[in-house]
Amino acid sequence: MTTEKSEVNSEQLLEERTFWKQVFAAKSRTIVAPENLERAKRKSAAAGQRQTTWIDRLFAGHDFYANASDKMVILKNGVEVLEFPIGELAGDTIIGRHPDAQIQLEAYKLGLFHAVIRKKDGKLYAEALDAEHGMLLNRKKVKTATPVRLADGALVDIPGYQLRFHLTDAPVIEGEDVIEAEELDEIPSYFYVPPPPPSPVLMNLIEDRDNISIWSEGVTTLRVADIVEETSDVKTFRLVGEKPTLFSYRPGQFVTFLLNINGEDVERSYSMSSSPSRPHVLEITVKRVPGGLVSNWLCDNVKLGQSLTIKGPAGKFSCFTYPTSKMLFIGAGSGITPMMSMSRWIADTTADVDVKFLASFKSPQDIIFRKELELISARHNRFRVAVTLTSTWGRTESWTGLTGRINSALIRMLAPDLDERHVFLCGPEPFAAEVKKGLQELNFNFANFHAESFGTGRVARGVKGNAKSLQLSEPRHRVRFTKSDICVETDETVNLLELAEAHGIEIEYACRSGSCGACEVRFSGMLSEKADFETTPQCKESGLAFACCSVALADLEVDA
Ligand SMILES: Cc1cc2nc3c(=O)[nH]c(=O)nc-3n(C[C@H](O)[C@H](O)[C@H](O)COP(=O)(O)OP(=O)(O)OC[C@H]3O[C@@H](n4cnc5c(N)ncnc54)[C@H](O)[C@@H]3O)c2cc1C
Ligand code: FES
Repeated sequence: MTTEKSEVNSEQLLEERTFWKQVFAAKSRTIVAPENLERAKRKSAAAGQRQTTWIDRLFAGHDFYANASDKMVILKNGVEVLEFPIGELAGDTIIGRHPDAQIQLEAYKLGLFHAVIRKKDGKLYAEALDAEHGMLLNRKKVKTATPVRLADGALVDIPGYQLRFHLTDAPVIEGEDVIEAEELDEIPSYFYVPPPPPSPVLMNLIEDRDNISIWSEGVTTLRVADIVEETSDVKTFRLVGEKPTLFSYRPGQFVTFLLNINGEDVERSYSMSSSPSRPHVLEITVKRVPGGLVSNWLCDNVKLGQSLTIKGPAGKFSCFTYPTSKMLFIGAGSGITPMMSMSRWIADTTADVDVKFLASFKSPQDIIFRKELELISARHNRFRVAVTLTSTWGRTESWTGLTGRINSALIRMLAPDLDERHVFLCGPEPFAAEVKKGLQELNFNFANFHAESFGTGRVARGVKGNAKSLQLSEPRHRVRFTKSDICVETDETVNLLELAEAHGIEIEYACRSGSCGACEVRFSGMLSEKADFETTPQCKESGLAFACCSVALADLEVDA
């Protein structure tokens, strides 16, 4: 530690000596090494437990009372790295590089015993011990060896770190506590210097790339950065992290929105239409559903800058899950979104894949991503897009391309090498059924067939006692829905979601085909689970299962 000699008088020296004596004589120490944050947190917690009772504290002269939420947060480069409840801090908490400092930190220009946080007379103080580089309070330089009162929100800078204080109910600073602090023309670079505000072109996304967090799973809140009107009833919401975020997911996967609409919590899943090859923005493309709650709410209410919470990503419908060098994408309406994500990935990464993309829409005005699909097709030799239109009603543009529903002839024409391809299909239920029929006519090997269902229309929520009758075959089993306390009979063909609905029991669902996971329930007993995209059923004994594609094989207890 260095001392500014000119400022030191004999009284101070005496005090300083007493102070250091106390420092080295002190018994319990919290030594914190920030390079191992977990270890540091454990130590601080343990130190907190070791810490004295209120009687000890009273006898030690630290008559300090803190609210449970009062805390000191340590930031490095503007990011929170450690947190200490004020109640758990010692009466004098020394911060510095020395192993005997209660909070040991490492930074260039940080003194061995750089500063002390002191509890006295029910108030909290910070005091700079290191005269050479000193300390800032609320970005102003304070005198060394002079305790300064800390109020709620106080920000203390020491070299390399900032200490932010959250002190609820802290008494207002009165005259005697007025702090003498010097406004600096320029804050020395060994203190934290906030980065300049991002340029309009966000070059920080590249220049600070190493510091950008990656979202790859979990619940997160995103900001709507842009909204694109794709067609008259389709909008793309371009979402970014509240802090710069890179999004990592499998092209073709979906996220689930956690919304509260008119006071009711609702969840809906939407596939990403964006590709992880453009990781700064997560895009979802929503098509209005007549009478639909969420799709219309999103299109009508979501504004630029609004925050939306999502969880995910989820889903197996991805070219990553079924890697192959020849693919046929078949999509209709909003079912084009996962295909678009995979197409963007393949085009952006120049993946060695031959793609034929057959898309079906009603009219030219309904074609989603029309220009981008044309561009991908024009720029990539092995990527061919064909669009077929199914309706002539209200057509305002002449159309010289394909017309009519997708059938075996159309598939054969576009993909004569169908047998060499994996087929990825997504679209409304009747459309999907027609395509499957066409593929069957062409003797397609369904082991290479992958489908995503966006779900059928909602079934009216059942009411207890309003049970629908089910035609059950043999053998039969009993299913007890434990939360609803209802015991019913079933067979080996009725899935648990249908069974629940038939007896007025609510189970959340979205796709009804085993791809979204919304209907997952805990069960005990034995059942058979088979998602639409899987070829063979899976026999499961107690655990978790998707209700929409599971049938009982024995008596069951279901947590619903
Ligand atoms: C994995 C997955 C990915 C998806 N990706 C996309 C995507 O990229 N883009 C996209 O646009 N959609 C996507 N969806 C569909 C989306 O999740 C929603 O289902 C869709 O937006 C409709 O939701 P909604 O709330 O507007 O309609 P809902 O309110 O759920 O209504 C759906 C239909 O049911 C009818 N209905 C509502 N309540 C009742 C009732 N009580 N009784 C009878 N009928 C009723 C409505 O009139 C409507 O026709 C995806 C779904 C899944 C499962
Ligand atoms: S409802 Fe989607 S997996 Fe069951």
